[in-house]
Formats: sequence, C-alpha cells, structure tokens
Amino acid sequence: MKDYYENPGLLLPEENITGQIGWRSPSNIALVKYWGKYGRQLPKNASLSMTLSKAYTETSLKYRTATTAPKRVFLFEGNDHPAFAKRIWKFVDSLEHIFPYLQQMDLEIVTKNSFPHSAGIASSASAMSALALCLVDMERQIFHLEYSDAEFFKKASYIARLGSGSASRSIYPGFSLWGHAKKVSIDSDNKFAIPFYDAIHPSFRGLRDAILIVDDAQKKVSSSMGHSLMNHHPYADDRLAQADRNLNLLDKALRVGDKQVFINVVESEALSLHALMMTSDPWFMLMKAESMSIIQKIKKYREHSGKFITFTMDAGPNVHVLYSEEDQLDIHSFIDKELKPLCVKQQLLYDEMGRGPIKLK
Ligand code: DP6
Repeated sequence: MKDYYENPGLLLPEENITGQIGWRSPSNIALVKYWGKYGRQLPKNASLSMTLSKAYTETSLKYRTATTAPKRVFLFEGNDHPAFAKRIWKFVDSLEHIFPYLQQMDLEIVTKNSFPHSAGIASSASAMSALALCLVDMERQIFHLEYSDAEFFKKASYIARLGSGSASRSIYPGFSLWGHAKKVSIDSDNKFAIPFYDAIHPSFRGLRDAILIVDDAQKKVSSSMGHSLMNHHPYADDRLAQADRNLNLLDKALRVGDKQVFINVVESEALSLHALMMTSDPWFMLMKAESMSIIQKIKKYREHSGKFITFTMDAGPNVHVLYSEEDQLDIHSFIDKELKPLCVKQQLLYDEMGRGPIKLK
C-alpha cells in the first residue's frame, strides 16, 4: 500500500477551480553533510542541518483549471529566467505520479530570494522547499484535505526532496534530520526529513551563522555531478561509516550541550566534504586561498579567546561561521576586522537559526 504522501489518487473536481498560495521557506546549512545519492533522490547517508532565517525564498503559486492546453508562467525576481524555469517545470512534470491533475491546470509561479542572486549561496533548498509547500498546500486547499501539521510538513518535505535533497530539511525550524540514521535512536527516513529540535541543549538554541562570501560566482560543480562523484569514490565506504559516526556524536553533543564535540564534528564534516572532492575522479578543488585563510583565522581566534566559534562549508568556497548569540558582539568585531576583508567585495550575510517556513498572506 502507498503512503498518503506518495499518491492519494485524487481527481480534479468537475467545476472550475482557482486559487493562490504563497510560502516563504528558508535555506539551511548542513552540519553532517549529504554527499552521495541513489535511486530517486535518496541519500546514501543521513544528514543533519540547521535551518536559517534571513536567507529565504518566497514563492507564490496561482492555479486554475485549464480550459485549453495548460499554461505555464514562471517569473524569478520579476523577470523571465529560462534556465531556472526549465528546472522548475521539469520538476513539476516529474511529480505527475503524485499530483496527476497538475497536467490539467494553468500554473503561474512567481519567486524571489531574500539574498542577492550573485551571493553564491545555494538557493535550491529554499526554492524547492517553498515550491513544495505551495504544491502540497494547493492540494490541501483544492481537495479539502485535513492533514495534521505533522502530516502536511512530512508530505512537503517528501516533495521538496524530489526537487533537491537538501530542500527536504528546510521544512522544519531549528535542526532537521534527513535519511535513515543507523545509530541515532530516532525514527528517521530516507524519503523525508524530520524535525530535530525537541531535546536540544539551550547552548545550541539560537545559533548564529555569518555567511562569508568568498566567491559570488555560480556553483562550479552542480550538486548532481558532485553526488555522482561518490559512486566510484575510493573512500566511499569509509565516508558512509564516518557520516554515521559523526551523526551519532553530534546527536549526543546537541543533547548534552557539548560544544567541543560539536566543533570537532562540524569541522570534520566540512573538511571531509572538500577532501572527498579533491580525491574524486575527476577531482575538484573548490576552496580558495581566502577560504583557507578564513578557517585558519577562526581556529586561531578560538584558541586565543576560548570562545565557541566554528565553521562549516558547502560544496563551494564560502565559509559559514557558527557561534552563540551571547558572543555576538565580540565575534562580529573579529569578523569585521579579520574576515570581511577576505570576502569578495567585502560581502557577508549575518544569519541565524530560523523558525522554519511561513505561509504568506
Ligand atoms: C554539499 O541538495 O544541492 O550542500 O539533491 O542533487 O539537489 P541535489 O543536491 P543538494 O546537495 C547538497 C550538498 C551539500 C551538503 C548538504 O546540504 O547536506
């Protein structure tokens, strides 16, 4: 039997329907990285992320029963964007088995990001989660479905995952866990993310994330290409074991408030991700000299000040600096003085742990 979030077998009502939905959904930063996938967007290892607040996408979806061939309109920041539109419609068409009635509807998607397009920040997590929330909400509205919040977000996470794996995690506030976590005593799944916030120690609530823009160009390695590097990677098995170990350690550290273990795991994950890229065939070196200087300076500052400060990175040269709210003043002056000059055009974004997506009026 199929789960409710896979194919509810719904048929469009006879009468014409029309409506509009909007969602704001944040980006997220992985602490344990998703790197490697199989089947249809299923992760080779479980990943854990922190949901952000200020880096988000707002998407609105207008729909109505099509009277002729279904019309599709897509606008990004008020303009046509053929490359992005192609990805979005390909994704929407790929959902035919879940939302078969989409082929009988006119759809207009209008979307914008809170962060500059050129900031080199991965936008697929916020973009795909915002769109997934709109689609699931549209379905709820058309068919008067009575989902609980938990069911609604689970389905949205499932759909977001099909658009981009990391998007599945943007659905929840605080921390999210996506993928079957072998050593963590919580029932997680490869098909959707789950919230991971209840038993978090107060020292990790409200974490800050300063995103240092070292390069504002488009990504050099597409995510799918990056994940495929893990298919024949010489260290693939060890990586999967390492991810399980790191997740287990981080799970415990988050519960008991162990900042040292948090630092060890988060930095090990960031550097391992880059080490895996450097040892792939073909190899990629996505760190820049500035990224390296930044992480060395963070380490030195931590050693001298004794403060809780650490970093992580995605598959690119930008550096996310993580720290507590209580140290914000000191750490911002350190960042402004020592790290900002290493950023391209001195660009950086001060973000923090967020409360998850919100429905737009
Ligand atoms: C390095 O979610 O962008 O940011 O599923 O192919 O869209 P696709 O990949 P994507 O991969 C993110 C990889 C990462 C680590 C992470 O976010 O866990």
